Amino acid sequence: MAAQRIVLASRPEGEAELENFRLETFEPPAPGDGEVLIEVSHLSLDPYMRGRMNAVKSYAPYVELDAVMTGQGVGHVVASRAEGFAEGDLVTGMTGWQSHAVLPGAEVRKLDDSLPPSAALGVLGMPGFTGWVGLNTFGRPKPGETLVVAAATGPVGSMVGQLAKRAGLRTVAIAGGAEKCRIAQETFGFDAAIDHRAFDTVKDLRAAIAAAAPDGIDIYVENVGGDVLRAVLPLLNDHARVPVIGTIAWYSGADLSGPDTLPNLWRQVLVKRLSINGLIIFDHWGDYPAFLEEVGPLVASGEIASLEDVAEGLENAPEAFLRMLKGGNMGKQVVKL
Ligand SMILES: NC(=O)c1ccc[n+]([C@@H]2O[C@H](COP(=O)([O-])OP(=O)(O)OC[C@H]3O[C@@H](n4cnc5c(N)ncnc54)[C@H](OP(=O)(O)O)[C@@H]3O)[C@@H](O)[C@H]2O)c1
Repeated sequence: MAAQRIVLASRPEGEAELENFRLETFEPPAPGDGEVLIEVSHLSLDPYMRGRMNAVKSYAPYVELDAVMTGQGVGHVVASRAEGFAEGDLVTGMTGWQSHAVLPGAEVRKLDDSLPPSAALGVLGMPGFTGWVGLNTFGRPKPGETLVVAAATGPVGSMVGQLAKRAGLRTVAIAGGAEKCRIAQETFGFDAAIDHRAFDTVKDLRAAIAAAAPDGIDIYVENVGGDVLRAVLPLLNDHARVPVIGTIAWYSGADLSGPDTLPNLWRQVLVKRLSINGLIIFDHWGDYPAFLEEVGPLVASGEIASLEDVAEGLENAPEAFLRMLKGGNMGKQVVKL
């Protein structure tokens, strides 16, 4: 059986490029004792993967050169030597960017097939769960408050927005482009949506956000950093909460020692006694069953919507990944193999 995989061919300097990836064919190994062989049908593409391409110490190990790109996949078991798994089981695990993966049974989770398989990568997977933790554990929403979140049509932002709306908050989306803003309101029920790419200056972006949040901002779920952060910080109310989930605007080698405005803006943290929490989803997996119990039925009934951008073919994963980093994805980016 010929299998395909995508490896890290070189490390990017600044923005990642197609040349940083290489498609290879290989013969998948047979599963050893306690392992399963999975034929991957869907691969998740996530912003964190950009960080794993750099040889920088972080909360998770980086990808070695010539090693398979890291990532979560969904697929069927095609051979099992692990107790509790049989051929044909639909499962998810850290398969990496490849068509076939051998994983220990202990690191694989069975999925029930009542929902689309890719839901386990997005709305009911790591990103949706991150939004739920970010909002509930760190955002502590109260009815009548105002919430702002960027990357609002992605799997994290759309979960945050929909749950906040259900909790009785005014929800303001920040998204790139008119189409994403329309979807933020029509599909995900945001009360207002602002196209962050439509403004030349931070001041103008800030004025637009201020108009959409006339009572100020009580919760800003930080997904992006950069100019959105600069625009939002002065608009925060006293005792606002800022769960810091991601800073994708700075993932491609931005010079963080550059313009000196940010330290001044972050001074707001002090004077407003803000609670700002870093969130790494690894710390919260104990709450994952509670998330599935609450949100699973809402996804099944259609009360929580999700949006997927499906690229076709493993060979197109690098291009889809680079497109997503620049905002070209419309919803959770997956690859159908
Ligand atoms: N801490 C954790 O454990 C954890 C877990 C999951 C995700 N995250 C983080 O959560 C964030 C959202 O993840 P996701 O999976 O939901 O991604 P996503 O929204 O599907 O994709 C990334 C989006 O980021 C936006 N973006 C890119 N550059 C930007 C910029 N300069 N300014 C503003 N927005 C920009 C783009 O949307 P627009 O076109 O709308 O701008 C792009 O579509 C990421 O920062 C990710 O790293 C963290």
